[in-house]
Amino acid sequence: MTNVINGRKIAKQLNQETKTRVDKLKKEKGIIPGIAVILVGDNPASVIYTRNKQRTAEKLGMKSILKKFPKDVSQAEVLQAIHHYNNDPTIHAILIQLPLPKHLNQTELIEAIAPEKDVDGFNSKNVGKLYNNEDGHYPVSCTSRGIMTLLHSYLDKIEGKNVTIIGRSILVSRPLQSLLINENATVTMVSLHTDNIDYYTKHADILVVAAGKPNLIKKDQVKAGATVIDVGINRMANHHLVGDVDFDDVKEVAENITPVPGGVGPMTIATLMQQTVDLAEWNK
Ligand code: GUN
Repeated sequence: MTNVINGRKIAKQLNQETKTRVDKLKKEKGIIPGIAVILVGDNPASVIYTRNKQRTAEKLGMKSILKKFPKDVSQAEVLQAIHHYNNDPTIHAILIQLPLPKHLNQTELIEAIAPEKDVDGFNSKNVGKLYNNEDGHYPVSCTSRGIMTLLHSYLDKIEGKNVTIIGRSILVSRPLQSLLINENATVTMVSLHTDNIDYYTKHADILVVAAGKPNLIKKDQVKAGATVIDVGINRMANHHLVGDVDFDDVKEVAENITPVPGGVGPMTIATLMQQTVDLAEWNK
């Protein structure tokens, strides 16, 4: 029997836990967790994502600011906004929605976020702590942490598993690699450049696909009984959303599989909310 991993249900449960923590922080410490989201330009997907982030934050009782800039904004103006929120004690989390217009220096902006407010975990200080598996509290990529939550919900253990990740992004694949290694999984990173990619996908107990290619993975590339996590969201000409995995085909062999939509997607926002409250608690 194949389990279809229910990201919406797990995200809802996580949001309920987050709401309870928000209420407790307010009641016991008088702290309202606050998030500032910076959006540059009008990329349609980014507009929808940032609106959903703001709505969810408000629903959970947090303070939420959506700071919008036109697409030709200068680097200095965005930097100024980041410095402003770095110094605002009512803001615990700062997120710059990606992708940014080409004229902006993304690295400089991410590095300008105070590490203790870097809710995406993209700042090199937080990336380094994750890479080194340091003890203590620090934020990590929300999508990667959300995938770990899904895996823990459906698998007894991650230790010892062979994991193949297709993709090399700083947003998801690289931080996920570190999270998995830190839990004693054996992780193989591959990409669309990899020779004989099927060799690696067929050996995976857990296959994570973040390649950005619709319906790339078919059942003959997947080990029977594998857990398949699809990070892809591709809008087709008919407006349908599909993942990087051919869901109907692969579900015949996988033991656990995420759908698109309703798998990884809802976990990103729920984890962002969870991590905003983490930051408010860690830095109070
Ligand atoms: N754009 C797409 N996914 C993400 C994400 O997780 N964080 C940010 N900041 N931008 C994104």
